[in-house]
Amino acid sequence: MEIIIQPTSETASTVAARIVARLLLEKPNAVLGLATGSTPLLLYRELIRLKLDFSRVTTFNLDEYVGLAPAHPQSYHQFMWENFFRHINIPQAQIHIPDGMAKDIPGFCRHYEQQIAAAGGIDLQVLGIGSDGHIGFNEPTSSLASRTRIKTLTPRTRQDNARFFANAAEVPHHCLTMGIGTIMEARQCLLLAFGENKSRAIAAAVEGPVTSMNPASVLQMHPVTKVCLDAAAAAGLEKAAYYRWVYDNKPDWQRF
Ligand code: PGA
Repeated sequence: MEIIIQPTSETASTVAARIVARLLLEKPNAVLGLATGSTPLLLYRELIRLKLDFSRVTTFNLDEYVGLAPAHPQSYHQFMWENFFRHINIPQAQIHIPDGMAKDIPGFCRHYEQQIAAAGGIDLQVLGIGSDGHIGFNEPTSSLASRTRIKTLTPRTRQDNARFFANAAEVPHHCLTMGIGTIMEARQCLLLAFGENKSRAIAAAVEGPVTSMNPASVLQMHPVTKVCLDAAAAAGLEKAAYYRWVYDNKPDWQRF
């Protein structure tokens, strides 16, 4: 893991955007795995500002609520459209988001995995982290080998996400999410976390044992993961000074 600690979520998102921009420069038809939530908003804003060419890019989103139609204001379809897709030049046919209204859920999940494979696999997966360490909606105790499937949200995640809904009772109980095994097959992972609320989950994911109790900790086993943090999210890291030193003293050829 490469731990990149920046003073603010803005600067951390600028670093993350440079990582994505570099990939698109090297591979204009890259396959991106995308995330929703508050965390990637600044990354998306920066990617929009850079006016990158997404005309040959394919995207797969991590997750969607079960029971919310694409037009529902709190669906992740809407979130992605409003915050990213409508501002860039990606053809709609190249966008993939799990279908929360699928009638045959296991069949849909198999199909989603097949679509990722048919696209050549994910080059770079953007990830947030839940305050409980979840990635995608893979809640604690999710199988570290799991594939795209239906999951039940924990009360804590429903509470964390209630701010997007009119009231907490409206937050769906179920979701479709890429599995941890699916995420681990991405060629590169880019985990973002901002704010004090994430500091415990980040400390456990980066410096704790690999355990399904903190699903993000599995990224310790991923060969190319970058973690972009603001100072508040990094506050629980024992070796923060070391990570800062490493980043500040990277040889030029390693910089993006
Ligand atoms: P957030 O969610 O970005 O809204 O904090 C992150 C997550 O739950 O993965």
